[in-house]
Amino acid sequence: MPNKTQAMPRKILVTSALPYANGSIHLGHLVEYIQTDIWVRFQKMQGNECHYVCADDTHGTPIMLRAEKEGITPEQLIDRVWHEHKADFDGFHVEFDHYGSTNSSETKEFAQEIYRRLKAADLIEVRSIEQFYDPVKNLFLPDRFIKGECPKCHAKDQYGDNCEACGTTYAPTELINPYSAVSGAQPERRNSDHYFFKLSDKRCQQFLREWTRSETLQPEAANKMQEWLGAEDENKLSDWDISRDAPYFGFEIPDAPGKYFYVWLDAPVGYMGSFKQFCSLPSPAGGKGSGGEGALNFDEFWKPDSNTELYHFIGKDILYFHALFWPAMLQHAGFRTPTKLFAHGFLTVNGEKMSKSRGTFITADSYLKQGLNPEYLRYYYAAKLNGTMEDIDLSLEDFVARVNSDLVGKYINIASRTAGFITKHFNGEINYDQVDNLPVFLQNDESLRQEVGKLYEAREYAQVIRRIMKRADELNVGFDTLKPWVLAKDPNNHLLLQQRCSLILHEFKVISVLLAPILPVLTERIAKEFFGLGRKFVWDDAIKITERINPYEHLMTRVDQKQIDAMIEANKETLVPPPSPVRHAEAQQHQIHPPPNPLSPKGGEAVEILASGGTSTVPHFAKGGRGGISPVAETISIDDFSKVDLRVAKIVNAEHVEGAEKLLKLTLDIGEEKPRTVFAGIKSVYDPEKLKGRMTVMVANLAPRKMKFGLSEGMVLAASGETPGLFILSPDDGAQPGMRIK
Ligand code: MSP
Ligand code: ZN
Repeated sequence: MPNKTQAMPRKILVTSALPYANGSIHLGHLVEYIQTDIWVRFQKMQGNECHYVCADDTHGTPIMLRAEKEGITPEQLIDRVWHEHKADFDGFHVEFDHYGSTNSSETKEFAQEIYRRLKAADLIEVRSIEQFYDPVKNLFLPDRFIKGECPKCHAKDQYGDNCEACGTTYAPTELINPYSAVSGAQPERRNSDHYFFKLSDKRCQQFLREWTRSETLQPEAANKMQEWLGAEDENKLSDWDISRDAPYFGFEIPDAPGKYFYVWLDAPVGYMGSFKQFCSLPSPAGGKGSGGEGALNFDEFWKPDSNTELYHFIGKDILYFHALFWPAMLQHAGFRTPTKLFAHGFLTVNGEKMSKSRGTFITADSYLKQGLNPEYLRYYYAAKLNGTMEDIDLSLEDFVARVNSDLVGKYINIASRTAGFITKHFNGEINYDQVDNLPVFLQNDESLRQEVGKLYEAREYAQVIRRIMKRADELNVGFDTLKPWVLAKDPNNHLLLQQRCSLILHEFKVISVLLAPILPVLTERIAKEFFGLGRKFVWDDAIKITERINPYEHLMTRVDQKQIDAMIEANKETLVPPPSPVRHAEAQQHQIHPPPNPLSPKGGEAVEILASGGTSTVPHFAKGGRGGISPVAETISIDDFSKVDLRVAKIVNAEHVEGAEKLLKLTLDIGEEKPRTVFAGIKSVYDPEKLKGRMTVMVANLAPRKMKFGLSEGMVLAASGETPGLFILSPDDGAQPGMRIK
């Protein structure tokens, strides 16, 4: 945080977490990159020297295996993904000063140098540990690549660290009949030497305790640290395993042939590597002066007593790595530690975890492909974000409402309705010198600017938006009260008309300046074209007089609900493949173990059971009840309920039935030897092609029924009400054919 003695302009280095190079950027990621980008743009607008670097996080087993599966080298894979990521970030106007890759010579040198210094400080130890080994792939298996039967509930095919059926966590060695998820082979236990960073060393403990007290962390994060560190006389930290055996896609550990740095060792070092690369670029990318070597000095930012500021924006799931390992590594390797960590919460969509089956696992690319304006999302996220680690929800309904009513309906509306009067009657000339002080046209631009500046600095963007929208409301009310369309009719009122409309447009400029970090492209057009400045806004423009405008040209369209619907549709995984170990491990890679991170967004999800309404193969529409929902049926006991055997079923085939008006013939896999045939009355609402491959829920122990078209061996569940529509159910991602629903 800036303090009074701090020199202006401040020198600031900012990072966002490095996204894994094995998946696409989605709207969850964008919370972080948009949050950071807004902060950086704010700093730059203020005239501070601020550098924003990031990179792809490219190492580890999942990336190695995925490349192998695609028949390409890991280098080819990460190169392709780098371009995809970069395009997504550009698309959302996330403006890095440099976007690198952890697979760079700079990162490698720093990682090895840090390791050497830690070793010299006697903070590295070698120990032999026993692990599962895949004798077919010749590979030590990370926990997520081992599967087997849950030792507690005996669910089959569970991962090596926890059971998705009953939620128990365990060591992979506790699994019954374990097998390698990569090759299917039975794993062997093998010993191997591993390198540990001695986090349990007194020096680390002591340093981390001081660091926790230094106001570097948000209060919630400091509390977490307290929990991890334990009481003063406790030693709760365990040493950190930083090595992996070959084959591994990563950097070799110096003087340890066949041993590689674990991906999380070199990932944060990527912050340094990317910045180093940036420093060696020829100007003007270096951001300062004439360029070349020395334009930007790496050491000035990373030496232990640096006067510069260093901020890491991260998600709460990776706090453990950034608050414990990273500062301890830096401190004991002779580098500066971060000024502050800014951790944010997780994104939910419509109140739930993002889900591929619901179509809410929305990729950045699919949003842009729908032609949705990226600044809608920037605006919406800003309206939701604050400086805490609370989760934020993207409610799609609210998204449409806010963009349309606030961003377009209030803010843009000010210019679109006022400009015409100035253009038509006064040739674009703005003049508000003599305006009398109507309360609504508060002439307190400077205090608003200061207030909003403080809120940006503290990442209280929701309050920024609230403050600015309040001003927008006042201006709209001012316009309505003024009735310029009446004034325009009487030449005697023209001076009044010009002054009042001028003031409104001047205030529109003020709030445009203040919104510029959030809406960089829109406000740049407003600055250049509408106000004719020929450049982007700078922070001081909020207190400069406004002289003229150019004719208003359309600035922003409303969101169309249809685009949202189409985007959701495009993200729906109709073809749900069984979760392959690689895909799954990717999704899980960010979760922390051990020790489990209590802040990670994991946790039980409620199981949707029977939706109300008709559940027969030929659906009927329920009558009665409020809002088209039939009244709840008579109470039954749990025993009654458990008579119904509900199973997750995979629709392996779906086809029309000759001569049947309502029925589709479904072939359902519930893990039995032979798939079942079920006739379902869903023809009017489902295209059989779209059903193929998706998962649903069936009643498996219903007496078979002989129908005109053949034997129906069960029933698919579907929801319906008084209003039209019929909806079959889907289990969440990861459910396997045959799993029982109870
Ligand atoms: N590669 C690591 C970070 C290494 S940093 C030295 C990683 N990558 S990630 O791709 O999984 O996530 C990148 C960032 O996006 C993380 O800060 C993570 O918290 C954030 N998010 C990923 N999914 C998210 C949501 N659903 N919501 C909010 N942020 C999320 O972790
Ligand atoms: Zn279990």
